[in-house]
Amino acid sequence: MSRATPFTVSHFRKRSFSRRGLRGYFEYRDLGIQRATRGKVVAHVIRARPAKAPHGEWHWHDCDLQFVYVLKGWALFEYEGVGKVKMKAGSCFYQPPRIRHRELKHSKDLEMIEIVSPAVFRTYSSAAPAARRSPARRSRG
Ligand SMILES: [Fe+2]
Repeated sequence: MSRATPFTVSHFRKRSFSRRGLRGYFEYRDLGIQRATRGKVVAHVIRARPAKAPHGEWHWHDCDLQFVYVLKGWALFEYEGVGKVKMKAGSCFYQPPRIRHRELKHSKDLEMIEIVSPAVFRTYSSAAPAARRSPARRSRG
């Protein structure tokens, strides 16, 4: 008997988006990949909720893989060791596991696809990383 997951499809419906998800300022549309892969991967469309803004807190995710493709709008993120990066429609970004980051702002029409493995992972709040020091300011002693 085959243990392969049967073919699955998730069609868009008006009620496809739910408030169940990591952030209260987003809505999430599960694409059925978590169920199809028995928890190996989650894929969802994330979109901005009206009149909600990101909290901007530093955090990190305990996962093996995470990447995002922006479908509409824009979002401003900040990454430890990288700085601020504005993601726009068409941007695809890979977040290395456990990198500290935060979201600062996003447009009202933000919509993006996020793929994470494993499907269930923990998120930890974090203190802000130490500001990057320029080489000229490093102590020699
Ligand atoms: Fe995050």
